[in-house]
Amino acid sequence: MNHRIIFDTDSAVFNDDAAALAMLLPHQDQINILGITVVAGNHTVAQGTEHMLHLLEVTGATHLPLYLGAEAPLLNTPRLAAKQEAEFGPITFKGAFDAKPDLCPPHGGHFATVRPQTTGAVQFIINTLEHYPNEVTIVALGPMTNLAMAFLARPDLASTVKQLVFMGGNVRVPGNTTRSAEFNIWFDPEAAAAVLRSTIPHVVMFGLDITNQAPIKQDLFNRIVTADTPLTRLMLHDLAPRFISQPDAYYYAWDCITAAWLIDPSIVTAVERLPLTVETEFGPTYGATRVTSSAARNVRLVDVMLGLDVDKFYAMYENLLTKSNVCGPIATNAFSFAPQPPDKGTTE
Ligand code: BDR
Ligand code: CA
Repeated sequence: MNHRIIFDTDSAVFNDDAAALAMLLPHQDQINILGITVVAGNHTVAQGTEHMLHLLEVTGATHLPLYLGAEAPLLNTPRLAAKQEAEFGPITFKGAFDAKPDLCPPHGGHFATVRPQTTGAVQFIINTLEHYPNEVTIVALGPMTNLAMAFLARPDLASTVKQLVFMGGNVRVPGNTTRSAEFNIWFDPEAAAAVLRSTIPHVVMFGLDITNQAPIKQDLFNRIVTADTPLTRLMLHDLAPRFISQPDAYYYAWDCITAAWLIDPSIVTAVERLPLTVETEFGPTYGATRVTSSAARNVRLVDVMLGLDVDKFYAMYENLLTKSNVCGPIATNAFSFAPQPPDKGTTE
């Protein structure tokens, strides 16, 4: 299947947003990446952007335009997170809420030459949906703040999205940030709830139920980094430290499973269409995704991916991340907008 996508990301050093993009790059004839929109999540937008621009340089993909997005969730804040933790128990990862004020250069110690577009992410999403009605797949690999802001500004555009494919949430397994919630949804529950309430015709969820099935262990990691390309050197820098004192350590490739499915949908072996909502009431389950009664109001049916062909995924992960020619054919119908004044793209 061919896709035109917006790649919405809370990019970090490498794992796993950057790895997901790197997996898509050799398939640009099949997956036309219209733009990368960065949102706060793993990192601040400024820091995540520097890591993503570095990846574009490392992979020779500097033709891909990158747009700066929302710097903070719609309502969640570091203060609210601290209150949640004090009252209801540990939050294992707070991402950008714990960010230091200084910007760190990416791996290699220098900032990329390629810079972001002057148009903001929210405006880019709106422009793209207007330009390609019913053709755009939004791939959301971080909190959904950019998307919520676009659809709050232009609710009419939600029905013109071809589909939303997101990594986030959990249905039958515990959360990874609180006992109840997965990080992307927990960071901005109100945004996820707003997007799920919108009129996007088709929504696909890659939650922890499926991403937990394919932990990356040291033997696979070692085989990949042995390729010794600029990309695997970045991967080594980011991920090798965890294996030094703990050879039986592993990490999750969350967003990469979403990328792998875009390339080859047969990696998913089980899917259920379920009525989903997001918990937005402040409390211990803030940010949890819930399967609810299909008769309830504001309920969205979501294709929840539940089963993974793990061996096929591992093979794709290894094969795509060890390619020396990372940037495959570039789509000839790539589309760029005339420069426009920047929109704020933030919740300031
Ligand atoms: C998700 O949260 C982010 O930290 C990861 O990139 C992934 O998208 C996993 O819960
Ligand atoms: Ca992510």
